Amino acid sequence: MTILAIETSCDETAAAIVDGTGRLRSSVVASQADLHAPYGGVVPEVASRRHLELAEPVVAAALERAGMGLDDIDAVAVTEGPGLIGALLVGVATAKAIAFARRLPLIPVDHLHGHIAALYLEPDPLRPPFLTLLVSGGHTLLAEVEDERGYKVIGRSLDDAAGEAFDKGARLLGLGYPGGPRLERATAGGDDTAYDLPAPMVGREGHDFSFSGLKTALRYAVDGEPSVRERRNDLAASYQRAIVRSLVGRTMEAVDSTGHTTLAVVGGVAANSALRAAFHEACDARGVTLALAPMELCSDNAAMIASAARFTDPVLFPDYLARDAYASL
Ligand code: KG4
Ligand code: ZN
Repeated sequence: MTILAIETSCDETAAAIVDGTGRLRSSVVASQADLHAPYGGVVPEVASRRHLELAEPVVAAALERAGMGLDDIDAVAVTEGPGLIGALLVGVATAKAIAFARRLPLIPVDHLHGHIAALYLEPDPLRPPFLTLLVSGGHTLLAEVEDERGYKVIGRSLDDAAGEAFDKGARLLGLGYPGGPRLERATAGGDDTAYDLPAPMVGREGHDFSFSGLKTALRYAVDGEPSVRERRNDLAASYQRAIVRSLVGRTMEAVDSTGHTTLAVVGGVAANSALRAAFHEACDARGVTLALAPMELCSDNAAMIASAARFTDPVLFPDYLARDAYASL
């Protein structure tokens, strides 16, 4: 079954096509980052309006790059949540319109399932069971994956997501938006032990995370500096180290207590080089197999949504027409 997938949950307008063998045939991502940069973060209404302009050309580009037309598509998949409601609505309406016009099934995909399914694409799909750390702008969670159809959450952030911690830290350091990649770049040449910032939750019971206290610790460190600009690299490096130590420490505790021998790390923050290196080291030391989402599939894209759609029940034509526009497809 060849699937056309659409993703509009935040500030990327994306479409992708995966064929019946699970091979990715095309993936197009139009980022709105520049549009939101002047505001220091994603403005939901601005994102929705841009999705409206980009949805049709992005779908057309995905078809063209795959060398396909709508006649070749057997089902339409779309991110139904979680995400910004107005942004999601544009993707859902676009997908419904295409599915309705072609009398095709519609596949509502959970965005977080999508991040994990980034690892199920051919030619080298990861096979469950495994433990996964999902680190994105909106979510930080540990989940056990028994099969490709879903995941069972065993821990999550009690406050900010790891990506949010990067974004807020970047703002405190005057690095602008998008914060994660900018903060990572600012660590170059910085001393990551210059500031003694805590690695939250490590050693505590359970599998939850917390990052809001760390952000406050960074604020105090920033307030104590006469010239933040001069110490920016050291501050960024120390802050990143604390986030990485917390993520790796908590995750390896979960590896030990669950007994999983394979660990997958997915989501936007999984693009962070220091985090990738630290997981390689920790997994090598324990003999745990590490699967990292490919860089281009870490942050939001529709390839991962198409991949998850292969393991999600479709809603058949015309059943989806009777359902709510957004809340449940
Ligand atoms: O998965 P994603 O694209 O969107 C959500 O579903 O939230 O994740 C975006 C998050 C943002 O917070 C962004 O700052 C962070 O991932 N991020 C990074 C890096 N690249 C993206 N954080 C740290 N280092 C990076 N290189
Ligand atoms: Zn995401």
